[in-house]
Amino acid sequence: MRRKMVAGNWKMNMTPSQAVRLAEELKPQVSSEEVDVVFCVPAIDIVPVAEAVKGSSISVGAENMYYEEKGAYTGEIAPDMLVDAGVKYVIIGHSERRQYFKEDDAMLNKKVRKAIEHSLVPILCCGETLEQREEGVTLSFVKQQITSAFESVPAEDAVKCVIAYEPIWAIGTGKVATTEQAQEVCGAIRENIRELYGEKTAEQIRILYGGSVNAGNAAQLFAQPDIDGGLVGGASLKPEFAEIVNYKKEN
Ligand code: 13P
Repeated sequence: MRRKMVAGNWKMNMTPSQAVRLAEELKPQVSSEEVDVVFCVPAIDIVPVAEAVKGSSISVGAENMYYEEKGAYTGEIAPDMLVDAGVKYVIIGHSERRQYFKEDDAMLNKKVRKAIEHSLVPILCCGETLEQREEGVTLSFVKQQITSAFESVPAEDAVKCVIAYEPIWAIGTGKVATTEQAQEVCGAIRENIRELYGEKTAEQIRILYGGSVNAGNAAQLFAQPDIDGGLVGGASLKPEFAEIVNYKKEN
């Protein structure tokens, strides 16, 4: 049985002092025994947020990471910096990084492998544009993103990763994918993992849905057979995040 996960992606929001206030406000409401809860926060907020959630079941995640160990890469963050700061998860390949910062599949594969090498859990993002959906190439496009990201990753490491399916047209638009659309792609991703790694890995790996998840749609989305939780943007900055984490109680 896969454990559900709800991860907040704070994106480029919250100064360190605001971040601590939000983490402290959410902490008592999102400490869940059933759901793994992660706050993925801006790099500068990692240390104070890790301190704020100490002693709770909440994990801290990063929103990005570089694939080199250290050195002359001005402005980048190395994996062991994240580990030392108390980070467990790292978002890799969010569509905003692919789109605005030109991160490509080859780079993302390096990041996935480097994160694993440092025992960080990658939350690997994938998802199609509206044009791709309309052209009917969603499944083949996402399959290629997944296959490329997992290149040279052995099964024993792949199984520990988390995949987040985030259709680009549903991010920050209020336009959520229907449960059927979300399930269809998440099911296809699991099938892709089955082809790459076999049944056991496919059954164990967690696949999240992201894109306008809110307190009203979380329960239905998370009830789908291949959706193991959510990667939440806008609603992760509000008390509503607690309702999403506690989606079973709310509905
Ligand atoms: P929204 O929940 O704001 O649509 O953002 C989704 C997302 O990009 C999470 O990574």
